Amino acid sequence: MINPNIQEIILTEEDIKERIKILGKLISEEYKGKDLILVSILKGSFIFSADLIRSLDNVSAIDFMVVSSYGADTKTSGKVKIIKDLAFPIENRHILIVDDIIDSGTTLHYLKSFLKSRNPASIKIATLLDKPTRRKEKIEADYVGFVIPDKFVVGYGLDYDEKYRELPYIGVLKPEAYN
Ligand code: IMP
Ligand code: MG
Repeated sequence: MINPNIQEIILTEEDIKERIKILGKLISEEYKGKDLILVSILKGSFIFSADLIRSLDNVSAIDFMVVSSYGADTKTSGKVKIIKDLAFPIENRHILIVDDIIDSGTTLHYLKSFLKSRNPASIKIATLLDKPTRRKEKIEADYVGFVIPDKFVVGYGLDYDEKYRELPYIGVLKPEAYN
């Protein structure tokens, strides 16, 4: 059943599942025989990371970072705060940052250079969603699930004010759902 606050579903559960299967093949191929660490950016990417890791056949480890997000607003504050850092060193290891969405690019632009300073063997980005028209920083993902229009979306890990993360699809909220 569709959540009553959802106006439109833009990506179904099936769309997402199919795309992750393809991303999994591409990433497995690229990192074959390498020591790959996934760095999942919480909280938004927890569901994507869980599905992506099960589509890969060569992951050495996964770790998590928590960075500041929007709170109850739908626009970025332009500042990034590390709330939880990685638990182990990444020097000389291949890092794939896994995030839910690149919007302005502020978060991933900051995070990529933050992690790069620890001298990993390589560092790439996988994002489920990309809103390229909103970009403020020069940053692109190496793996993109879907390019979407400039609309605020929820579901499949993405929230509005901590709600709707549990929806199995990605949708746009009805205007009356913003309070
Ligand atoms: P950026 O720093 O502007 O690229 O924003 C990245 C973060 O903002 C994402 O990891 C999300 O947590 C959040 N975000 C951006 N757009 C949306 C959206 O449409 N829905 C929910 N969260 C979003
Ligand atoms: Mg996020």
